Amino acid sequence: MNEADQHTTETSEQRPTRGNRLYPRVTSFRSRRGSLTDPQQGTWDRLWPELGRDVGDDLLDIDGWFGRNAPTILEIGSGTGTAAVSMAQAEPHVNLIAIEVYKPGIAQTLQRIERTYGTEQPVHNLRVLRGDAVEVLEHMVAPESLTGVRVFFPDPWPKARHHKRRLLQAPTFALIASRLKPGGVLHVATDHAEYAVAIEEAGNAEPLLTAVEWDSPISHERPVTKFEGKAHQVGSAITELIWGKIGA
Ligand SMILES: C[S@@+](CC[C@H](N)C(=O)[O-])C[C@H]1O[C@@H](n2cnc3c(N)ncnc32)[C@H](O)[C@@H]1O
Repeated sequence: MNEADQHTTETSEQRPTRGNRLYPRVTSFRSRRGSLTDPQQGTWDRLWPELGRDVGDDLLDIDGWFGRNAPTILEIGSGTGTAAVSMAQAEPHVNLIAIEVYKPGIAQTLQRIERTYGTEQPVHNLRVLRGDAVEVLEHMVAPESLTGVRVFFPDPWPKARHHKRRLLQAPTFALIASRLKPGGVLHVATDHAEYAVAIEEAGNAEPLLTAVEWDSPISHERPVTKFEGKAHQVGSAITELIWGKIGA
């Protein structure tokens, strides 16, 4: 069995079918209440139709969505969008897609985008996808289509019995690698030392990934994320891990 396929077959928590497949497997997130404040709802109503999509079964028309052909980077688990908006401003030549399951986080991302309108750096190159990033990668993103994938501060699920929930395990590395273009880059950051070791081992074991030994097509600079701010406050060390897709 292909490791990327294990996502759809490792189902210790099997839920109702959607379309003709079971979903999700053990997920890397838990459902949280998702009510919006009135201002968030207002921004949502204005921006979501153009900038947002729910996870679905159809391949994304990325060029159509952005209205241009440009290198595309996914940020998985974008939280409230602090880093996504900074990166979109720093990399206007890139199409950036932020994926998040938590609706209020997405609403805050949309608010951040809206606040840039009328400023010197309005953000027009960021879109948001609501749903499980694994499903997005499996069903909505074509193989060898991404220039970059960024995963900043994935939930560490520190208890051993929860490790199966961790996003960054061998099957996810295989899936991400399959969606990267040759020469594309996966950039991970975590403040959790033990998860960092596990991530590094799994990433190094993925045959399609290697150390980036060519001119990287994307910046390795990273804005401080909201979650990272909290990590700094308690003095946690940050581990930065970067791989490239072979075949550049
Ligand atoms: C620890 S937070 C970090 C958020 C942000 N990257 C930061 O550094 O501030 C992890 C985020 O990943 C999201 N998440 C976890 N699993 C996900 C998945 N499979 N697909 C999309 N988002 C996910 C969670 O909802 C949460 O917002």
